[in-house]
Amino acid sequence: MFRFDSLTVKHPKKNPLALRMLVLMFVLVCGVYICAVCLKQIGGHATVGLLSFSVAERPCDVTDIDPSEKPYVHFPKPETFSREECACNPVRYFAILSTQRSGSGWFETLLNSHMNISSNGEIFSVKVRRSNMSTIVETLDKIYNLDWFTSASKNECTAAVGLKWMLNQGLMQHHEEIVEYFNSKGVSAIFLFRQNLLRRMISILANSFDQNAKLLNGTHKSHVHSTHEAEILASYKPVVNTSLLIPNLRQVEDLVNKSMEYFKSTRHIILYYEDIINNQTKLVDVQNFLRVPLQELSSRQVKIHKGSLSSQVENWGEIEKTLKGTHYQSYLHEDYKL
Ligand SMILES: *[C@@H]1O[C@H](CO)[C@@H](O)[C@H](O)[C@H]1NC(C)=O
Ligand SMILES: *[C@@H]1O[C@H](CO)[C@@H](O)[C@H](O)[C@H]1NC(C)=O
Ligand SMILES: *[C@@H]1O[C@H](CO)[C@@H](O)[C@H](O)[C@H]1NC(C)=O
Ligand SMILES: *[C@@H]1O[C@H](CO)[C@@H](O)[C@H](O)[C@H]1NC(C)=O
Ligand SMILES: *[C@@H]1O[C@H](CO)[C@@H](O)[C@H](O)[C@H]1NC(C)=O
Ligand SMILES: *[C@@H]1O[C@H](CO)[C@@H](O)[C@H](O)[C@H]1NC(C)=O
Repeated sequence: MFRFDSLTVKHPKKNPLALRMLVLMFVLVCGVYICAVCLKQIGGHATVGLLSFSVAERPCDVTDIDPSEKPYVHFPKPETFSREECACNPVRYFAILSTQRSGSGWFETLLNSHMNISSNGEIFSVKVRRSNMSTIVETLDKIYNLDWFTSASKNECTAAVGLKWMLNQGLMQHHEEIVEYFNSKGVSAIFLFRQNLLRRMISILANSFDQNAKLLNGTHKSHVHSTHEAEILASYKPVVNTSLLIPNLRQVEDLVNKSMEYFKSTRHIILYYEDIINNQTKLVDVQNFLRVPLQELSSRQVKIHKGSLSSQVENWGEIEKTLKGTHYQSYLHEDYKL
């Protein structure tokens, strides 16, 4: 640079054309040289950048993952935080497909007591999120990329992420596209239903009564954490409209059957609330299904309706008469003891 300046300053006027050409040549050569140096430096930086980029983006090692498992294994890169040391811990996607008052709230608290499971609640209870398939996909993508924040969101070491999804929240309506999404993204379905749909009906009647009555100090609660609260809620005994009983039970049974038919091509497990209550091994099955390390799962929730079904309604005699001899008479029998 210094030599270049002194040259051009020194000789501008007295020189003939040849000398001017020489200076011009010199300037050109210098220019090209400077450019070359600059380019080399930029290139150098770019190479360094590329190197660190490829270190961060290096695909995670999947050699010890069984080939049949690969479609279900993911390494999400959240936009909102870094997975840090767990960036290469595989993550599985799941959805709990259920109906209201089937124990899915309780089941979800059990799952969320596992350090590596994050189940984000009833995301699609908000109507705008299930307006159409594009809003559904957008919502699911965000959940499965670990970018959805709820109290259940875990940390960078989440190994299974999902939500609970009621059949009447767009799931049946858009079943074809949702099955396609589940199968292309490797989402596993956990069906959770009640075996005894009569118990479920009583739970629905009591819960909707409480929406207005608000028995617990003027607040409505669908789930409780103390036996005292559970006793207060269970003190209300609904009257079941027996002329609607069988059609209602059939409608729910039909819905449940259809959902299992629609989603049968999806990797799935079928759980019944009663089985989870009766048999702790079911929670081991679920953890194996989600391929998470086995842990003791716990929930602070307390069951509201305990004891015999006959003591939970006003018109048990009428209900018995209606169901005896029908497809639904098994619902009259005790199915679990607490
Ligand atoms: C889907 O619903 C959202 C929200 O209601 C709306 O903004 C969007 O235009 C809809 N998209 C399609 C394709 O209908
Ligand atoms: C589960 O979480 C712990 C603690 O955050 C982490 O060390 C572990 O690697 C995680 N396990 C899996 C299977 O991701
Ligand atoms: C209602 O509120 C009182 C006073 O705060 C409290 O002692 C009682 O336990 C509450 N009852 C229930 C059912 O939450
Ligand atoms: C039971 O349902 C039927 C059909 O909807 C209705 O006509 C009847 O009034 C209901 N009975 C009671 C006691 O609510
Ligand atoms: C639902 O499926 C069960 C078992 O396959 C069957 O017994 C029942 O009749 C079905 N119910 C309806 C309403 O389709
Ligand atoms: C409990 O569940 C396990 C796993 O699903 C099953 O193998 C076992 O037979 C069940 N036990 C009882 C008593 O039903």
